[in-house]
Amino acid sequence: MDVIQAIKERKSIRAFKPDPVKLDLLKTIIEQAQRAPSWANTQPWEFAVAAGKKLKAIEEAFVKRGAQAMQNTPAEVARPYEYPEPYISRIKSMQAQENRGRTSEMTKEEGEARMMDNFRHYGAPACIYLLVGKNFLLQSQGVNVWAMYDCGSAVQNIMLLAVNYGLGTIAQAMAVAYPDIIRKELGIPEDKLIALGIAIGYPDRDNPITKDFRERVPLDEIARFYGF
Ligand SMILES: Cc1cc2nc3c(=O)[nH]c(=O)nc-3n(C[C@H](O)[C@H](O)[C@H](O)COP(=O)(O)O)c2cc1C
Repeated sequence: MDVIQAIKERKSIRAFKPDPVKLDLLKTIIEQAQRAPSWANTQPWEFAVAAGKKLKAIEEAFVKRGAQAMQNTPAEVARPYEYPEPYISRIKSMQAQENRGRTSEMTKEEGEARMMDNFRHYGAPACIYLLVGKNFLLQSQGVNVWAMYDCGSAVQNIMLLAVNYGLGTIAQAMAVAYPDIIRKELGIPEDKLIALGIAIGYPDRDNPITKDFRERVPLDEIARFYGF
């Protein structure tokens, strides 16, 4: 598949079919994604992939703990505390796009149900957890941001490769809201930070939620060109 086509087709999938993804295909995707660049080729990414009973156990434990507990549980990668402009306006226009065709905003119950959908990986049969060595990411002088930057490149590769293989993905901060649960189920050692979950599977194209593409701001808001 052409890279431009993969970039244009990729979007966050929030409804998956239950059909499993073959282990060999997941291995191929991760191996190819490793071609991402990184600081001095340090390759700071590691992945733990869960499916079947292991993923179900994680999902059930997340749902049982519920969304409220998140307020008292510090995520290993902190959520933003503040949303200054222009970022808050971008969230609002995303919400306006989601609410298009509705007569009311999302209710509290709908918000709660959405969080449970998150915890169940929107029905995806597998989740790729991104792990990063704490000793490289969290250094004495502060966070080594470059390591997370490199991981982002690898994650984007995974998401584009998934499109190439007819799969869909969604990067999910909510999938790692309770890292202790994932750590226990998968036996991930304390020295690895559980940074992100990437739900992966075959999109349920009949579900209207998979149809929309989220908008982007105009080019002149985010790029300046000099010396042309
Ligand atoms: C690091 C990261 C974490 C995200 N976490 C969540 C999440 O927990 N739940 C969710 O529904 N979407 C999550 N998203 C998806 C974003 O909302 C989505 O990428 C954005 O709205 C743009 O839409 P698009 O991916 O369809 O282009 C996350 C995306 C990123 C990059």
